[in-house]
Amino acid sequence: MRYMERKCFKAVGCVSALGIGTSGLGGDLWRADTSKDERHLAVLANALANGIWVVDTSEIYGGGHAEELVGKALSTFAKEDRDKVVVVTKFWPDNAEKIVLAAKASARRLGTYIDIYMPHGPLPDICKAVKAFEELVDRGVIRFWGLSNVDARKIEEARSCAKRHDIAAVENVYNYINRLDEHEALPYAQREGILYLAASPLARGAVVENYRIRRIAERLGKTPVQVALRWLMDKPAVVPIPRTTRPEGVLEFAGAYGWRLPDEYAKELEVR
Ligand SMILES: NC(=O)c1ccc[n+]([C@@H]2O[C@H](COP(=O)([O-])OP(=O)(O)OC[C@H]3O[C@@H](n4cnc5c(N)ncnc54)[C@H](OP(=O)(O)O)[C@@H]3O)[C@@H](O)[C@H]2O)c1
Repeated sequence: MRYMERKCFKAVGCVSALGIGTSGLGGDLWRADTSKDERHLAVLANALANGIWVVDTSEIYGGGHAEELVGKALSTFAKEDRDKVVVVTKFWPDNAEKIVLAAKASARRLGTYIDIYMPHGPLPDICKAVKAFEELVDRGVIRFWGLSNVDARKIEEARSCAKRHDIAAVENVYNYINRLDEHEALPYAQREGILYLAASPLARGAVVENYRIRRIAERLGKTPVQVALRWLMDKPAVVPIPRTTRPEGVLEFAGAYGWRLPDEYAKELEVR
C-alpha cells in the first residue's frame, strides 16, 4: 500500500482520513446494473490498494448491488486487514420498521459484518431505532451505529435513547460550496469525538469549477479535487467520502494524502 493517514475517534477508534462513496457503483439508486462490474470493482480495488479504508455504501445504491461489489472487493483481504477497514452502510427510512432484517440483508450482500449502520435520514421513532441498533451491536451484525442528514439536536435526541452503545458517526453533506454544517453538526461531532463523514465532498463535481480552489490547486501543483478533499481532511473529525465511477479517479483522490494546505492557502479558502 502507498500511504495512509488516520484519524481517531471515541467509539470507532482510528480510521483512514479519506474514504470512498459508492453511489453510482453497481447501478443507479434502487436499480442494479451489472454491466460495469469489472470497472466498478477496479474503482474499489484502487481505493483499498491506496489506503482509502472507509467505504460508504447503502442498500439503495444499485438496489443493493453496490454492497455486493464492496463485499467482493473486500473478499480479497485477509481477516486482519478486513478488520481495519470501516464499512458504512445505510437503510432507507421506510425500512425503519424492519431495521434488524434490513441490516441482516445488507450484511449478507456484503458477505461480512457492518462496521457502521445508519438510516439515510431522520426517523419518526428514533428511540425504537436506537434500540434496534443496540440489539444489532449485541448480536455482532454491526459494530456501531450512526445517523445521516441530521442536525445536532437530532443527534442529541438519538444519543439520549442509547442504553449501552453511543453513536459513532454522522454523515451529512459538507463541501467547500455547502458549509451549512459548520454552524452546528460539525462542531458538535468534533467536540464529542464522533466520526464526521462528509457526503458529496466534491459538491457532485462542482468544486472543480470553483475559482478559489482552482487558483490554489494551480499554485500547489495539485488538482482541484485534491485541494477540495485536503481542505476537508485538514479539519478535525472530518473524513470525506468522494465517489467516482472511474478507476483512475480514485488515484486522483489518493493524491490528497501526504500533505497539508499551507496556512496562507487555508486562510484564503476561509474567506467567503
Ligand atoms: N447520506 C446521504 O444522504 C448521502 C448523500 C449524498 C452522498 N452520500 C455519499 O457521499 C458519496 C459522494 O457524494 P456524491 O455522490 O454526491 O458526489 P461527490 O463525491 O461530491 O461528487 C462525485 C461526482 O464528482 C465527479 N468527479 C470526480 N472526480 C472529478 C474530477 N476530477 N473532475 C470532475 N468531476 C469529478 C464524479 O464523476 P465521475 O464518476 O465521472 O468521476 C461524480 O459525478 C456518495 O457516493 C455517497 O456514498 C451520502
